[in-house]
Amino acid sequence: MSGRFRILIRAGAVVPLVAVVAFVAMGQVPPPNFGDPLPGLTTAQQARFNAGLDQFEEAESVEDGLGPVFNDVSCAACHSVGGVGGGSDIFVTRFGRTDHGRFDPLAQFGGSLIQKNGIGQFGAFNFVAEVVPPIANTVAKRRTVPLFGLGLVDAVPDRLFFAIAQRQQEQSPDTAGRVAIVTDVASGQQRVGKFGWKCQNATLLTFSGDAYLNEMGITTPMFPNENCPQGNCAMLAGNPALRNPNDVDNSALTALTDFMTLLGPPPPGPSNPSTRAGGQVFQAIGCANCHLPALVTGQSPIRALNNVAFQPFSDFLLHDMGNLGDGIVQSAASGSQMRTAPLWGLREFTTFLHDGRANSVTAAILAHDGQGGSARNRFRSLDPTRKAQLLAFLNSL
Ligand code: HEC
Ligand code: HEC
Repeated sequence: MSGRFRILIRAGAVVPLVAVVAFVAMGQVPPPNFGDPLPGLTTAQQARFNAGLDQFEEAESVEDGLGPVFNDVSCAACHSVGGVGGGSDIFVTRFGRTDHGRFDPLAQFGGSLIQKNGIGQFGAFNFVAEVVPPIANTVAKRRTVPLFGLGLVDAVPDRLFFAIAQRQQEQSPDTAGRVAIVTDVASGQQRVGKFGWKCQNATLLTFSGDAYLNEMGITTPMFPNENCPQGNCAMLAGNPALRNPNDVDNSALTALTDFMTLLGPPPPGPSNPSTRAGGQVFQAIGCANCHLPALVTGQSPIRALNNVAFQPFSDFLLHDMGNLGDGIVQSAASGSQMRTAPLWGLREFTTFLHDGRANSVTAAILAHDGQGGSARNRFRSLDPTRKAQLLAFLNSL
C-alpha cells in the first residue's frame, strides 16, 4: 500500500472512493471464491486453516458436551451460505423486559438469548427448548452474519476506530458513530468491540468461546459455566456432561479462531461504468459516512494480515438507528444502537437487516432510521438512473 493511503487512514479520514478503487490492487487481493482462505498463506498457515475448518464443521454430540440447551450442533450449521463461514437466514432470538426505558435481560428466565433446542430426557431431567417467557415485552430476531474476512477486522488496531469516530464527530456529527468499549473475556482487557450486531465482542477468540457456549452449550476454560435452561440452574445437576469441568479445551478455541482469522474476504463482483457511478452516489448521499469503504490492519505476524487495506464497507461503530434498533441493551450498545452492517458480499444475502425484516436491498435502505434517516431520504429522492446505479454498486461489493 502506498504511504499516502496509510496517512489518510491513520488520520481517520473517510477515504475517497476513487482512492479506494485505485488501491484494491495494492491492498488485500481477495481470494477467487467465497470461503477460500486469505491468499498468500504459508503451508503451515494453510494447515491451521484446514484444521480450524474441520473444527468449525464438526457436529458435536451430547457425549462431546452439546447442550443441555443449544441452538445448533456445529458452527457451520448456521454459518454456511456461499461457503463454510458464510451467513444464513437462520435467526436466533433475544428477549428481555423494558420498563420505563430500563432493560432487564431476564437472566432468571434464561435471557437474553433463547436456546431453541434441548438434549431431551436424561435420568430425572428433561431438557427442552427454551421459550420466550410471558413477562418479556422486548423480543428481537438476529440473522446469522457471514464471517468472511473477519481476520482483517480483528487485525485493525483499536486506535484506528477511535480515530474514525473522532473524525466523524468533526466532519459528519449527525451520523457520527460511537466506539463500543467492552471487556474482552479472552484477555480481560477493555477493548474495542467490533463483532456481532451490537459490537458485543472485541476479538474472534472471545467470540469463539461465546458462540460455543451460547449457540452450542459447549463450555471452555474461557466460558466454563453452562447456561441454566430457561434460567433454572437446578436443572444443571442433571447435565450429562457434568463430569467434565469443560467440554472442550483451549485447542478447540484456537482452531476456530485460526479458521476465522485466515478466512478470506468476500470476492467482489465485476465492476463496470454503472457500478462505478453507483459508488459516487454512495459517497454523495452519505452512505459512506457509516459504511466506510476501507480500513487498514496494523502489524501482524501473519503476512496476509500485516498492514493491508481491505474494503468491508463498515466503520464497525455503533450508530443510533432509531426505530430500526432491536431494543436489546447488550454490552456497550443501547437498545437503538446497532453496528454498521458490513456490505461486502451483500449479493449473497437473501434477507436483510438484523431481523431479516427487509427482503430486498431497497427495502433495507428504506428501513434506515435515526442517524440513517437523512441518507434514507436522499436515497428516496434519487432519480431512477442514479438509484439503479447505486443498487448495481451495492450488488458488486
Ligand atoms: C444457531 C446458529 C449459529 C450457530 C450454531 C453459530 N452462530 Fe455464529 N452467529 C449467529 C448469529 C445469529 C450471529 C449474529 C449474533 C448477534 O450479533 O447477536 C452470529 C455471529 C457470529 C460472529 C460475529 C460476526 C461478525 O460479523 O461480527 C462470529 C465471529 C461467529 N458468529 C462465530 C461462530 C462460531 C465460531 C460458531 C461455533 C462455535 C458459531 N458462530 C455458531 C448464528 C450462529
Ligand atoms: C448512520 C449510519 C448509517 C448510514 C448513513 C447508512 N447506513 Fe446502512 N446500515 C447502518 C446500520 C447500523 C445497519 C444495520 C441496521 C440493522 O440491521 O439493525 C445498516 C444496514 C444496511 C444494509 C443491510 C445490510 C445487511 O446486512 O442486511 C444495507 C444494504 C445498507 N445499510 C445500505 C445503506 C445505504 C445504501 C446507505 C445510504 C443510502 C446507508 N446504508 C446509510 C448504518 C448506516
